Amino acid sequence: MFSKLSPYGGDPILSLQLAYREDARADKINLSIGLYYDEDGHIPQLQSVQKARELVNQLHEPCVYLPMSGNPAYCKGAQSVVFGVDSDIVRSGRVATIQTLGGSGALKVGADVLKKFFPESTARISDPTWDNHRAIFEGAGFPVETYPYFNRETQRLDFAAMAAYLDGLPEETIIVLHPCCHNPTGADLNTEQWDEVVNIVSRRRLLPFLDMAYQGLGEGFESDAYLVRALVKAELPFLVANSFSKIFSLYGERCGSLSMVCANADEAARAVGQMQQAVRRNYSSPAAYGARLVETVLLDSTLRSLWESEVGDMRQRIESMRTRLYRGLVQELPEFDWDFLLAQRGMFSYAPVLGQHMLRLRDEFGVYIIESGRICVAGLNASNVDRAARAFAAVLK
Ligand code: LMR
Repeated sequence: MFSKLSPYGGDPILSLQLAYREDARADKINLSIGLYYDEDGHIPQLQSVQKARELVNQLHEPCVYLPMSGNPAYCKGAQSVVFGVDSDIVRSGRVATIQTLGGSGALKVGADVLKKFFPESTARISDPTWDNHRAIFEGAGFPVETYPYFNRETQRLDFAAMAAYLDGLPEETIIVLHPCCHNPTGADLNTEQWDEVVNIVSRRRLLPFLDMAYQGLGEGFESDAYLVRALVKAELPFLVANSFSKIFSLYGERCGSLSMVCANADEAARAVGQMQQAVRRNYSSPAAYGARLVETVLLDSTLRSLWESEVGDMRQRIESMRTRLYRGLVQELPEFDWDFLLAQRGMFSYAPVLGQHMLRLRDEFGVYIIESGRICVAGLNASNVDRAARAFAAVLK
């Protein structure tokens, strides 16, 4: 019966993570998947989350099904991170938010809802982008094409090409945007550039779908959400997928949310209904425990401040590792221009030239990066960063 099934080529990010786990070398370095490691090379347990865990565990709550739209208090907490505390638009009931299975679940549910009501639309993703964007939107039935984003020669954002392309799109085209910490390049738009994108969205009547998995790890929670604020200010409809995997170090709990920003509360109520239907068809309801932890942190002012400072520490550690990597590469290979690394933000750096050497890096040096040339800077620490820089230099020489 199943002889017709073709083999699956594997996912470029998740397959590498498996290979890394099976690698027996003690000095291996994981710069592949987007995981934040602390200075000791461990996935941290945040203190704020630990305290929330103790509080929640004391309650011995029964583990029942959540509603299709998830835990309502968690959704409030997610809105306060994505749209800001005391957001007018949230207060006026115009934001429809549901809890989802991570950021991927939010993208899938949102794509399914859009397919039902915008069946003729097509989706545009940045070139390059997170590998799963194409798969999710094609999986939902949309034709997917790329918009220009990164110039591989200058190793920088090509905003002029991006803006010109977006300005030529037909109405109701879905454009997937990374508000901060672009994955994989770490090359972000500045506020003037985002303002121009918002003008284009408004003029061309485009449909923005924001994927925000790294809020807080670029410049800070508010700055990283500049695009969200600008779209709200312009009174435009849009969707946002958010993920707490990295910023709560709760990857396996799959805590995310999907918000649809609507014209009024009545429209938002219908948006919740459509998202609920898409959830029911895909997985019925999201998981309870991780969301309970996130909710406890976000709705308690003391735990929330602690969490915000812990995310701030993560951001600073990533920045210091980016600088150390830069210095190491300048020392090892001064003939290369590495300045672009310092302009990048968030968990990733991107040097496509290194992607060509990914197998040598892995086999000879135990250094794992993604084939695109994406390096997860958050996997570096004081004891492996110089070794990683030497490995990069050795394959480039
Ligand atoms: C990544 O980009 O490495 C993360 O978002 C993890 C994933 O699911 O790909």
